[in-house]
Amino acid sequence: MTAQDAATALLREVTGREADGVWSAPGRVNLIGEHTDYNEGFVLPFAIEHRTAAAVARRDDDVIRVMSTFAEEPVQVSLGELDDAIARGGLDWAAYPLGVAWALRRAAPDAETFGVDIAIASDVPVGAGLSSSAAIEGSVASGLNDEWDAGLSRVELARVGRTAENDAVGAPTGIMDQMASMLGVADAATFLDCRTLETDSVELGFRPAGLTLLVMDTNVEHSHATGGYRERRESCEAGAAGLGVSSLRDVTVEDLPHAEQVLDDVTFRRVRHIVTENQRVLDTVWTLRSAGPRTIGELLVASHASMRDDFEISVPELDLAVETALANGAIGARMTGGGFGGAAIALIDDEKTADVGAAVTAAFAASGFTAPTIFTVRPSEGARRDA
Ligand code: GLA
Repeated sequence: MTAQDAATALLREVTGREADGVWSAPGRVNLIGEHTDYNEGFVLPFAIEHRTAAAVARRDDDVIRVMSTFAEEPVQVSLGELDDAIARGGLDWAAYPLGVAWALRRAAPDAETFGVDIAIASDVPVGAGLSSSAAIEGSVASGLNDEWDAGLSRVELARVGRTAENDAVGAPTGIMDQMASMLGVADAATFLDCRTLETDSVELGFRPAGLTLLVMDTNVEHSHATGGYRERRESCEAGAAGLGVSSLRDVTVEDLPHAEQVLDDVTFRRVRHIVTENQRVLDTVWTLRSAGPRTIGELLVASHASMRDDFEISVPELDLAVETALANGAIGARMTGGGFGGAAIALIDDEKTADVGAAVTAAFAASGFTAPTIFTVRPSEGARRDA
């Protein structure tokens, strides 16, 4: 069953009513540009075919009730109590859809809002670093934007999603995932300047080149609401302050020798990752456009090394997946997403894909790691109304 059908069925089962409409938004893979988004840098993600769907039906009162196939009980709150409920916290998964409703009302204060039932279903793998949270945010934001006639643009809806993530869920993330999910185009990546939020679509051309994009989910769970992600963000802010700039976007590869002199070793290496990663995103866009996807392998590999050695957000499972994929003929491979677990990606000749997958599974078994989940993804369309 598709996520759209599952959401529609859940809404019918719990409320006994039909949906006014069904909206969906995809997860994403980041091809390159990691932790650069909150440094006002460049990223190059693409939406994938795995989607989250929200079926929405208007109510006669001012209650927002959210339900999901991955939670036992619906959660409800009246619009009048929404601010307090968000401020109090403790909403668990419901913080995503309710946070979106809350952020959307603030972003569109003139919209006439009313109570709704929202049923959510998803086939985006959770905890794999494929932005299952941005997919929830994008589907609910798109649904409420239409239902409440709020008139927000896709970029504004991406901002609404990030506000929900930062202020309702409490994860200090950037805006890459929400932008990728809202703006995805089939067979293309979204080149995003996180300073201006300007985007450009970059054709990937995997299929015509005979290439497959493999996702190797390590099944090592990560969370960005705590720990390492926040710490990395703070190091980047400390690095920018030490260099006298408002964000690391303003530091170039030529500035690195000076940065090495004025920053402590750890902060310097965090800065070096961001600065070189921004350059790698620009180089990848240029390479894709001038020579096609077969020549981006070295950039992907360099990105992984930088995250492993300088930014220190990889884990042994991610390193093993990348090394094994490369040893078995992948053109390029790297961890994707926030790190500390989640998934790695590999770009592979179609005919070698099965062998690479088998080799990674065997290598994990030999190392005593939990078995990885391996699947292919296609660059797909962003958020949309389905019904
Ligand atoms: C997570 C965050 C994004 C981004 C990536 C790292 O996916 O949600 O904003 O920072 O990590 O590139």
